[in-house]
Amino acid sequence: MTSEPTSLENPPAGDQRKILVTAALPYANGHIHLGHLVEYIQTDIWVRFQKLRGHRCIYLCADDTHGTAIMIRARQEGRSEEALIADMRRAHVRDFEQFSVHFDNFGSTNSPENRALCNEFWARLRAAGLISEQEVTQLYDPVAGTFLADRFVKGTCPNCGSTDQYGDSCDKCGAAYSPTELKNPKSTLSGATPELRNAKHLFVHVEQLHEFLNDWTQSGDHLQKEVANYLAGHFLGEPLRDWDISRPAPYFGFEIPDSPGNYWYVWFDAPIGYIASTAEWCQREGELLDRWWRGADVEIHHFIGKDITYFHTLFWPAMLKTAAFRLPRKIHVHGFLTVDGEKMSKSKGTFILASTYLNHLHPAYLRYYYASKLGPGLDDLDLNREEFVAKVNSDLVGKVVNLASRTAKFVQDTGLSPTYPDDGGLFSQAAAEGEAIAAAYEACDFNRAMRLIMTLADRANQFVDSEAPWKLRDSIDRAVELQSTCTIALNLFRQLVIYLSPVLPSLQQQTDELLGHLISHWDDAQEPLVRVAINPFTHMMKRVEAAQVAAMIAESREEPAMTEPAVPVPGTTAAPPVSTMPSGPADSGAPLENEPLVGETIGIDDFTKVDLRVARVVASEEVPKAKKLLKLTLSLGGDERRTVFAGIKTAYEPAQLVGRLVICVANLAPRQMTFGVSEGMVVAAGAGGTEIYLLSPDSGAQPGQRVH
Ligand code: 2FM
Ligand code: ZN
Repeated sequence: MTSEPTSLENPPAGDQRKILVTAALPYANGHIHLGHLVEYIQTDIWVRFQKLRGHRCIYLCADDTHGTAIMIRARQEGRSEEALIADMRRAHVRDFEQFSVHFDNFGSTNSPENRALCNEFWARLRAAGLISEQEVTQLYDPVAGTFLADRFVKGTCPNCGSTDQYGDSCDKCGAAYSPTELKNPKSTLSGATPELRNAKHLFVHVEQLHEFLNDWTQSGDHLQKEVANYLAGHFLGEPLRDWDISRPAPYFGFEIPDSPGNYWYVWFDAPIGYIASTAEWCQREGELLDRWWRGADVEIHHFIGKDITYFHTLFWPAMLKTAAFRLPRKIHVHGFLTVDGEKMSKSKGTFILASTYLNHLHPAYLRYYYASKLGPGLDDLDLNREEFVAKVNSDLVGKVVNLASRTAKFVQDTGLSPTYPDDGGLFSQAAAEGEAIAAAYEACDFNRAMRLIMTLADRANQFVDSEAPWKLRDSIDRAVELQSTCTIALNLFRQLVIYLSPVLPSLQQQTDELLGHLISHWDDAQEPLVRVAINPFTHMMKRVEAAQVAAMIAESREEPAMTEPAVPVPGTTAAPPVSTMPSGPADSGAPLENEPLVGETIGIDDFTKVDLRVARVVASEEVPKAKKLLKLTLSLGGDERRTVFAGIKTAYEPAQLVGRLVICVANLAPRQMTFGVSEGMVVAAGAGGTEIYLLSPDSGAQPGQRVH
């Protein structure tokens, strides 16, 4: 059985294709980091390439907003899930924009469109007789009042006895097990010992689609060979297990209409979010959703990381098939990011957030570096610091931008030659290479595309080196020769920029401005520009310095705790009146009991400089290795949150603080501590040790109110 009409497998050359592209939806409970960006940049390059080739191509994404992790985080932060996901959405959208990742629509799985589509899928699954009900025994946290997903349980490995292991597998011996097999299990939410409880779950009988999935995955058309082989070797050789599609309340998600108290598991509504995001785009653009998700002439391409292969290559096609949607033309699976050959690590500073990267480096560097490393396979991509610096400097700055910076100024007054000079065939050779470069982009072999482009750049540079226009500039008789040389160099430069523009849209824009001509199609590389005025050359790209990379790593590093400051520690004002607390880093010194009643007299103006606010403790946790510190998350009303490291652990249990009101010094300059940044202080009286007494307002006070 084949699933696709043959006409689509090889669209006729030259025809405008309709291509719908997605990248995996980022979870709304964390920020975008350089690992995520491998995929968003890879997909963005592929989409920009298709658009430049003249195809109708749309790139869709959304935040993946449902599930236990988001529910728990919102609860800990004392706010609604909706407030949490709205904040994260803003941060995600900003990060993507900064890296020139352009989505035609960025939606949310928590949208009315997605709910309606989930209902539609569900009705089709029910009608096909694929849904059954089964009793499931699961660990339940009686304190948090929720069933526990595997990652919310820790205990002793039943295989090797290692402590502090997650509920699904042991990172010491590699054993995989069910969370009910863990010894001495504890909930990571509350520390409580979980109980076993039964609940009714709904399952999809995927086995009914086994033959279809076998044909679809093994056809050779839709998956990379290694992915197809993995599925054949691990899943398709035996009956497919029923898929547990529901979770009992409490759960942040969509309640199942015909099963009150049960919610669709996040992995049910997440991929449907691809369609819901398309629906939003269709509404805005006046397009028909069915045309894009059911039309026989549309190619759907999903880009994903290898960790989510299973969901996208088995369940998702099964759901699409059952609900009569179009099946993906191709699922492109990529590997993980490593940094200097190792997994990203917070303690090594290689777990780098997109926003941290941008504090130090230009986004174009990363786009080019990733492109130069990405092939069509599933290999992991290594971000090697030295190679990063070398590639950016030698390829982008040394070979590409340098062509323009060495020549543009000499034709500032004359513009380009009236006809294209004889360049010994350089332009036409590079024009002829266009199809080979395009084929590499099409196949997601960006590494090959970049190598082909850099070979052209080498030839162009050899030409400029041999003509040495800087030697011609002072000779009036050789003005025509100078103009010809620069016309050739700038046209070869523009060809490179056209071929690089899916990777470097910012360089394309700078080039458009320099030459006063917009690059709008891949075939613009076939015709040289002549007789055009040249705008003043402005700097296009700086060399990158190893020190910038080192500074980014330093900013990302989470230091392990080595020492602790003496009493009082930052984050608390145990003892002295707040208005006399020094604002510098951790004070040291003797215990503070029996402070003089009044140090120095201050005026009211000094006092009012201190912005004291009522705050609610929404989360409180121990700081590993710190004997005196608790890490508090304070709500100052609305969405305003502060992290404060307070030296009160000797007097308070973390759990007893959650929910209570405290007084916070809200305008204290943030302080970098060993454990993180402290963004204020909570005020307390007492001598330290077990004698610390947090101040709190009478009942009725609200977080955010000012203390006068
Ligand atoms: O693995 C993840 O990060 C998921 N949030 C990806 C979801 S992709 C799609 F199915 F929605
Ligand atoms: Zn083990």
